[in-house]
Amino acid sequence: MKNYKLAVVGATGVVGRTALKVLEEKNLPISEYAFFASKRSCGQKVSFLGKDYTIQELNENSFDEHFDFAIFSAGSSTSEKYAPIAASKGCIVVDNSSCFRMDKDVPLVVPEVNPEDIKKNKGIIANPNCSTIQAVVALKPLDDNFKIKRIVYSTYQAVSGAGRDGIYDLENGIEHFQKGDNYINNTKSTPYELKKFPYPIFNNCLPHIDNFLDNGYTKEEMKMINETKKILHNDSLAITATTVRVPVINSHSESINVEFEKEYNLDDVKKILSEFPGITVIDDISNLKYPIATDCTGKNEVFVGRIRRDYSLNSGINLWVVADNIRKGAATNAIQIVEKLIEFDK
Ligand code: A2P
Repeated sequence: MKNYKLAVVGATGVVGRTALKVLEEKNLPISEYAFFASKRSCGQKVSFLGKDYTIQELNENSFDEHFDFAIFSAGSSTSEKYAPIAASKGCIVVDNSSCFRMDKDVPLVVPEVNPEDIKKNKGIIANPNCSTIQAVVALKPLDDNFKIKRIVYSTYQAVSGAGRDGIYDLENGIEHFQKGDNYINNTKSTPYELKKFPYPIFNNCLPHIDNFLDNGYTKEEMKMINETKKILHNDSLAITATTVRVPVINSHSESINVEFEKEYNLDDVKKILSEFPGITVIDDISNLKYPIATDCTGKNEVFVGRIRRDYSLNSGINLWVVADNIRKGAATNAIQIVEKLIEFDK
């Protein structure tokens, strides 16, 4: 069997480190690995599959030696500069940033949903936004069966989605709260450092993820809207979204309201969802069983619960969808794309 060579760019970050864990858990036919980060981390050691590796500084020549695949998780500007260089040297890049997602020449892929799009790649495949990935896994089987007309997304997103600085802001906020420090109305009466968010995330819900746009939405909201249309191959879907950062370390939760073209039966919906690859249904309200962030952290699947009819519509449904945003929302999805590339290469 062919053995492949894989690079991880951003190997020291939150997503990169999880990618290493997921790669260790899977038994992929990859015989050589290289790990890249910025100058800051150059020379650091990582232990991976029983071997010590040295983190290398990413530069223009990093892809002069041949890699079959590279997973990039080092932010948009790094991807913009280096992903085309890697691709021009014959490496297929799976990019976690938002840089190429809406590029018509770049497939945007969730392997359970649109695996065939992988075959159209010209060297770069984009991993969707974390909140989009878990949503479309839940929506795909419903769209196939009942044809979705409209979607309303409301998200409750963990700080790990904002990288190390996001986690720092929550942990640091908790520490200061315990010491009695107060951060009221942004007056900084007892100031403490905020590295990522404009307000303390501890004790708050911030209806603001990524920058605001002229239309009043945030970039994160527009990512969910546009990426869902691209992945489900349906530009005319009606979608709206409100994305909220909440004081949860890891795993995004989403309330998804869906209107269908066709009538449906609730038991059929539950069956269809539970039979779809990558979904685990947890929906037993009489025993208080529904997906919660702490249970979903460390798992690769998408969890769906609170499946119930929306009585305000002819054919509408409400879902509660939770997934580990760093695993299924980023690292796991990227590695599943690599697995598919290997499968298609046979
Ligand atoms: P480093 O650790 O050297 O800063 P997170 O989003 O969790 O903060 O992680 C970002 C990841 O992207 C880290 O691995 C970081 O490396 C990496 N990174 C940031 N800027 C660059 C760059 N210019 N070149 C390569 N890797 C980068």
